[in-house]
Amino acid sequence: MEKNGNRLVTKGISQKFTQGKEEIIVLNNIDSIFMQEKNYAITGISGSGKSTFIHILAGLDKPCAGNVFFNNIAINELPANKLSLFLNKSIGLVFQSPHLIRELSVIENIILPGMIAGKDKNDCEKRAHELLQKVGLFDKKDQKPGELSGGQQQRVAIARALFNEPAFLIADEPTGNLDLATGTTIIDLLLSCHQEWGMGLIISSHDAYVAERMDEIYVLSEGKLHRERL
Ligand SMILES: Nc1ncnc2c1ncn2[C@@H]1O[C@H](COP(=O)(O)OP(=O)(O)OP(=O)(O)O)[C@@H](O)[C@H]1O
Ligand SMILES: [Mg+2]
Repeated sequence: MEKNGNRLVTKGISQKFTQGKEEIIVLNNIDSIFMQEKNYAITGISGSGKSTFIHILAGLDKPCAGNVFFNNIAINELPANKLSLFLNKSIGLVFQSPHLIRELSVIENIILPGMIAGKDKNDCEKRAHELLQKVGLFDKKDQKPGELSGGQQQRVAIARALFNEPAFLIADEPTGNLDLATGTTIIDLLLSCHQEWGMGLIISSHDAYVAERMDEIYVLSEGKLHRERL
């Protein structure tokens, strides 16, 4: 895979859910292009479909219509084994909660994507040390996630998401559980990773202070995705 210039593209993405007897259309025929060189915010009121869109974009859920392309590959059509391999290498994911494995140490959590990809353990540890320095948690490497603050745990989750040098880092409300100061350090960290390693950022957020830091802001409303800033 090329290191740079990758594209994530949605073509005609729709998603609907049935709630009781009602059918709600959450995403209505959305076309969009995300370039690795840029940073994007996905905003919109609660219930507008941000998580639904992010999950489809990241290959975690399948849309009821349309395709998500990574360059020329329709990822929603990949068989499960190929999809996991692709996701592990090409897309890093961060959620509102860190979802770390409690029984494993910080460094063991971070090297998981490398171990899954079959990489050499020493190489994995070297990469983990680099990431631990980057997220400012080298001194916590042998602790368990439960011994870290929420913001520190989110930094571990980011280091894990970056482990395989993905083309895109996709985050659903990564600062949602954090205070303003801690949230700002997380966004600073993500932007500096973009600068240093070149992964495209696609971040959903309620928070104006997050959206303002991105190159482009998109708003989800009534099933459509609108560009807010040129
Ligand atoms: N699995 C599901 N089954 C039924 N309805 C769903 C499902 N997932 C999401 N929805 C509905 O889709 C709509 C969009 O939900 P989504 O979680 O994408 O919104 P959101 O913009 O992420 O909201 P928030 O800002 O609160 O996180 C909501 O009306 C929600 O109830
Ligand atoms: Mg959400």
